[in-house]
Amino acid sequence: MGCSKNNFPSDLSIDTVRKYVVGIDKKVKLLDGTERQYIYFDNAASTPTMTFVQDAVNEILQWYSGVHRGAGIKSLIATKAYDDSREIVANFVNADLHNNTVIYVKNTTEAINKVAYRLNLSKDDVVICSLMEHHSNDLPWRKFTNLIHSEINDDGTLDLNDLEFKIKKYSDKLKLVAIAGAANVTGVVNPIYEIAEMAHNVGAMILVDAAQLIPHRKIDMKSDDDVQHIDFLVFSAHKMYAPFGTGVLIGPKKIFEKGDPELVGGGTVKLVTETEIEWTNLPDKEEAGTPNLIGAVALAEAIQMLEFIGMDNVAHHEMALTEYALRRFKQFDEIDLIGPKEFSSYENKLGVITFNLKGMHHALVSAILCYEGGIGVRNGCFCAHPYVKRLLKVSDEDAIEMKKNILNNDRSKLPGAVRASFGIYNTKEEIDDFVEQIEKIIKGEYKGKYEMNKNSGSFQPVNFEIDYKNYFIL
Ligand SMILES: Cc1ncc(COP(=O)(O)O)c(C=O)c1O
Repeated sequence: MGCSKNNFPSDLSIDTVRKYVVGIDKKVKLLDGTERQYIYFDNAASTPTMTFVQDAVNEILQWYSGVHRGAGIKSLIATKAYDDSREIVANFVNADLHNNTVIYVKNTTEAINKVAYRLNLSKDDVVICSLMEHHSNDLPWRKFTNLIHSEINDDGTLDLNDLEFKIKKYSDKLKLVAIAGAANVTGVVNPIYEIAEMAHNVGAMILVDAAQLIPHRKIDMKSDDDVQHIDFLVFSAHKMYAPFGTGVLIGPKKIFEKGDPELVGGGTVKLVTETEIEWTNLPDKEEAGTPNLIGAVALAEAIQMLEFIGMDNVAHHEMALTEYALRRFKQFDEIDLIGPKEFSSYENKLGVITFNLKGMHHALVSAILCYEGGIGVRNGCFCAHPYVKRLLKVSDEDAIEMKKNILNNDRSKLPGAVRASFGIYNTKEEIDDFVEQIEKIIKGEYKGKYEMNKNSGSFQPVNFEIDYKNYFIL
């Protein structure tokens, strides 16, 4: 066992992958005392892991020891696994390792913060991101430079004309276009290669925040001499079936070769005297401290699983689920879908369905789904406040009122929506269960009495406590 394609069972495919999901058969106790097999529709936040990934982790734990710095055989094995994992990651996205380096970080957020720091930006430079970005692909740029937001269309898709206009308008100062491969709120997939070409045509670079896109679609960074190549690609392993604390930043060596890393310490140097520091080679220079061997092995195994199943099969399965869920949702006038509603093809829409039920608080809907349906979704603003404000058409006056409320720790009236997001293992039957629950909610057929906690903005059923010791407790 270990990081090898040969470990996968011969029957592994998109049709059988569900049985290899760790925890897939877990049941939860509902408000009426019955038990139900849990349905997890929050894959856009974090995915479960797979038995093969768990096996690979268990196996490398047998060899666990210091990476890079130990002299024993276990250390050599651990070091080889860690280093080999980078190649598996690079191959997955067709990154050219002559010019690029694969740096392990904690997650997408850390990766973007690192690029924002390492680009040596000033407030005279310009970075463009869009209004659909997750806060993690927005706030790091604000910290270091002049950030310009490109517009979105009324349906929540990217306004490509505005992006092109702004790329040209700021071409003198533009250093980077930082864009989501796909939006976490609506699942809208952006034309990253076209945008890369626009950026390169004015001498700027592109960073693709692939946190949402990478588990669902094949990504090709392309070679550096291709005008459509991706300069920086960032993503998180916990959204791609390897939740063991690793994230990835792939980018040009030349950016990281010059200058000092933002985190310094063990592992980053060739030599230190009392007065001198010689930084070591990439990628180690950018990975201060003891590396996350387990995370790297888990990610490599998850990637090999996705390759084994085939990213085309992944995409087709999830497109079919999305098409099915939207078709069923459209039968209800009471459902307000957020984001684009009509699709000529589902290529450009991930399995992310975001909605509100007319006249109902988003947090109440998700609480009923949780306590009476055993279904895990997410509600709120999804770490994308500017995007959600636009999508829900929140007026500036209302936004001022909301800010006042939030600062007073009152989240009871915060706008938001409910999001259901699918992964490779979800099924149409689960969507049927979900729709059945939604229909009950619409008809007012839910049983619990729910109270809002103003501080958190969430609803809890009265007289019901989750008995954590029945599940897991430390
Ligand atoms: C599009 C997008 N970017 C960035 C992030 C941040 O990812 P992480 O929390 O793993 O850093 C997320 C998380 O949901 C996301 O959806």
